[in-house]
Amino acid sequence: MRSEEDALAGRRVLVLISGSIAAVKLPLVVSALVQRGALVRCVLSPSAERLVSAVALASLSRAPCHVEADQWSHRAARPLHIELAEWAEVVLLAPLSATSLARWVHGLADTLLSSTLIACEAPVLAAPAMNSAMWAAPAVRRNWRELQGWERVLPLEPGSGLLACDRVGDGRMAAPELLLLALESLLLAGCRRDWRGRRLLVSAGPTREPLDPARCLTNPSTGRMGVLLAQAARLRGATVDLVHGPLAVDPAWLEGLQGHPVVTAAEMESALERLQGDADAIAMAAAVADHRRRTPLTTKLPKQALAEALRSEWEAVPDLLAGLVQRRPPAQAILGFAAQSGEVLQEARAKFARKGCDLLFANPIDRSGAGFGAASNEGWLLGPGERQRHVGPTGKLALAHELLTALAEAMALRAPVPVPVPADP
Ligand code: CTP
Repeated sequence: MRSEEDALAGRRVLVLISGSIAAVKLPLVVSALVQRGALVRCVLSPSAERLVSAVALASLSRAPCHVEADQWSHRAARPLHIELAEWAEVVLLAPLSATSLARWVHGLADTLLSSTLIACEAPVLAAPAMNSAMWAAPAVRRNWRELQGWERVLPLEPGSGLLACDRVGDGRMAAPELLLLALESLLLAGCRRDWRGRRLLVSAGPTREPLDPARCLTNPSTGRMGVLLAQAARLRGATVDLVHGPLAVDPAWLEGLQGHPVVTAAEMESALERLQGDADAIAMAAAVADHRRRTPLTTKLPKQALAEALRSEWEAVPDLLAGLVQRRPPAQAILGFAAQSGEVLQEARAKFARKGCDLLFANPIDRSGAGFGAASNEGWLLGPGERQRHVGPTGKLALAHELLTALAEAMALRAPVPVPVPADP
């Protein structure tokens, strides 16, 4: 992706770090932000100062790192918390401790970090981290719930795993790579939660059809587009089921999604069938292999026998998307993809008519900067009533947000019209 397509490039990111041991991960996040062209300033809470080096953060951010003592400096011409709050275009609040959460929610401006946060009008990505018993405590639950309704906050639930206190449970801060992705998403789509209460089923990645234990038929899909679509929907409030073949994306991007790993098209088909009934919408981004061996061999073929084995005993894989369209409940909206080489639009129109889905995104796979594994993409979005528009070239996360907006519109079109209730005589 070119740097001008990176949503983080040139943006002013204020990083607020509070007192949780996950603070030790923030220097790497700051370094990654700077490498992607963001302008970064950091603030440490008094507890965070004990956990992570202000000198390291200053060096990595190429700017002074602010600590509690700075708030009362006679050298500052304006109050530091106001100056920082007004400078920020976007705030990364990570890790968010139980205390800083409580201060924020209750409006206590008694530290540099909390007063900056309260004074700031920029959108905030909030990523808590704490022990699982603290995370489950009624006071923390109540404060976190309160935050869900705040318009300029994107709350990023902690995940589950081994915590520094040796407990295994909820409270682990979102991985650094996911913080970066969520921050990029916030810059692209804001804090909107328009998918809240919706369930999206996404398929992603390739399938692998075995010939024998050593060989298979597959394709170069990495799953990037489908996974980003799933994560963008989750950040917009959806519950997401992700059925995926073998992926080549950062595993942190799967956090917060209900993952259903599969290998073959048959496994993908049965996972989709099982999950379809609960979904409000489906995005079929998987690159399903087109053919499979009728019965895969259980022992490895000698290479002399390979040419013959490739000629016989193969069958077409059923069209999973067409099956989903046939079985769908009336209100379910479906987005398909089309991987095209050469002329895109004409072939895509024919495919759209054949598949019967509500939307089809057709992208070239034979141009640089689009298709399999690329960070960016472009193509034609076909919709109801002959609608078509060209999208991109743009980053795949930006494209994911555009497709989600179109899918939400398709869902609204399919929603049953409420039957008017006759008035009482
Ligand atoms: N698809 C599917 N099942 C298949 C093949 C494709 O569900 N067996 C879905 C893909 O997930 C995608 C859409 O159909 O959403 C289009 O896939 P594509 O590979 O572009 O088209 P094909 O139908 O396979 O046609 P062709 O390979 O001839 O272009």
